[in-house]
Amino acid sequence: MTIQRTLILLKPDAVERQLVGAILSRFEQKGLKLIEMRWFRFTPELARCHYAEHVGKAFYAGLEEYITSGPVIAVVLEGLDAVEVVRRLIGPTNGAEAPPGTIRGDFSLSNQRNLVHASDSPASALREIKIFFPTI
Ligand code: CMP
Repeated sequence: MTIQRTLILLKPDAVERQLVGAILSRFEQKGLKLIEMRWFRFTPELARCHYAEHVGKAFYAGLEEYITSGPVIAVVLEGLDAVEVVRRLIGPTNGAEAPPGTIRGDFSLSNQRNLVHASDSPASALREIKIFFPTI
């Protein structure tokens, strides 16, 4: 068990559906600390950088269109085993299959419009935090 930092993105559907407060409160209630937060808008170039492992997949064009469609909020969270804990809190990719009690399970029915992204490993967390918060 170690103190870790991880990156989450509140995606355009979270902002559009006014779920930012509800989603952030899940992480705060769990005991995770908000370290950094900023608003921005994805460009196609930034989408290709952040989602490099998905470029070329069948769903990538739709993912790029969705993630560039509106404002996004990037947040760095810190806490015990934060990478794994946050992944469990958000639930599996497909909201229709995500269990009740998880963020996607409670608020999403979609495989694509699933409200929140979270780093999937400590190495991804380091890489992704650097993309959105190069100075921390
Ligand atoms: P995220 O956790 O941000 O990581 C990659 C994103 O691609 C994912 O959430 C979804 O928004 C999207 N995605 C993953 N798989 C699919 C799929 N099969 N169809 C459509 N979108 C997908």
